[in-house]
Amino acid sequence: MDSKIALLKEEFSAELKKAENTADLEAIRVKYLGKKGSVTDLLKEMRDLSVEEKKAFGQKVNELKAEVADAIAARTTELKELEVLKEIESMPEFDVSMPANITEGSYHPVTLVQRQCEQIFKTMGFNVEDYSEIVTDYECFEALNIPKHHPARDMQDTYYLTNGQLLKTHTSAAQNAIYKKYRDALINDNVPIKAIFPGRCFRNEATDACHENTFFQMEGVMVDKDISISNLIYFMKTMLSEVFQKDLKVRLRPGFFPFVEPGFELDISCLICGGEGCPSCKHSGWLELCPCGMIHPEVLKAGGIDPEEYSGFAFGLGLTRLVMMKYGIKDIRDLNSGSLKVLSQFTDDE
Ligand code: DAH
Repeated sequence: MDSKIALLKEEFSAELKKAENTADLEAIRVKYLGKKGSVTDLLKEMRDLSVEEKKAFGQKVNELKAEVADAIAARTTELKELEVLKEIESMPEFDVSMPANITEGSYHPVTLVQRQCEQIFKTMGFNVEDYSEIVTDYECFEALNIPKHHPARDMQDTYYLTNGQLLKTHTSAAQNAIYKKYRDALINDNVPIKAIFPGRCFRNEATDACHENTFFQMEGVMVDKDISISNLIYFMKTMLSEVFQKDLKVRLRPGFFPFVEPGFELDISCLICGGEGCPSCKHSGWLELCPCGMIHPEVLKAGGIDPEEYSGFAFGLGLTRLVMMKYGIKDIRDLNSGSLKVLSQFTDDE
């Protein structure tokens, strides 16, 4: 019997040495200590022994059992450590103390140009107003002389909400509220209304390089006694020359918008060729930039201002378009892409 135990021990330590991983060790454990394991088998053989022999042999087998279990446990710890070391070695080397590679955020090009325009208009005495993106049909259309079923509504494919409100299709939607806000000061204290209101606009456009369903405009209005088209031209020319840092020429062409009369398309001399004619301006020497006009009497009336006594101009600058021209951005979709790679190129101005 003793020789059997000695043999088993030898066999066990040889196998233990060969074990390469924790899975091998588990197999060895089952082989020796499992229900049908070799050590367990030894105990079964005790049946034929005398009481004295049983006692001595039982003790030895139990010792063997403990020895095997301890050896397996010790080797398991060793192998686990080795496995962790191996895993660490196979990992790519990196320095955990190195500072993270943080991409710094930057202002969106629309924000940059918007702020620049705001600054310019502020120095000319304009208030900068903020306005909501969700507006009523009245604000967006009715108050701007675009009654229900007017064909001009077709030009602005509108997102309606289920409650009848809508996402504003143009910043002109804020005009009515601005007139109402400032008319008392105008009428009682002779303070001209001078305000700009930049904002996000929405139209259900099929998107391509030139069209987006979400874009920015900047509306401006000035109302006082004796405001004329020459005031409009002066403010637009001053503002645009500042934005482009060039002395630009501007011209007006007739344009139709129900909320202005007369209405115009304002062009600037081509930024690329200076007016000589080039492919960018389709050889005309001019770039279309900003629709504008003299505020329609009905629109003034809706704002509570007497058109017999007061007049004013309004313009709807395409801020997104201005940004694209200023930075030479060819695809409007880049602006809403959220791509830092694209957008961070325009931070130099700040
Ligand atoms: N709201 C017009 C549009 O988005 C643009 C516009 C035209 C605004 C003429 C004006 C204006 O203030 O006078 O199509």
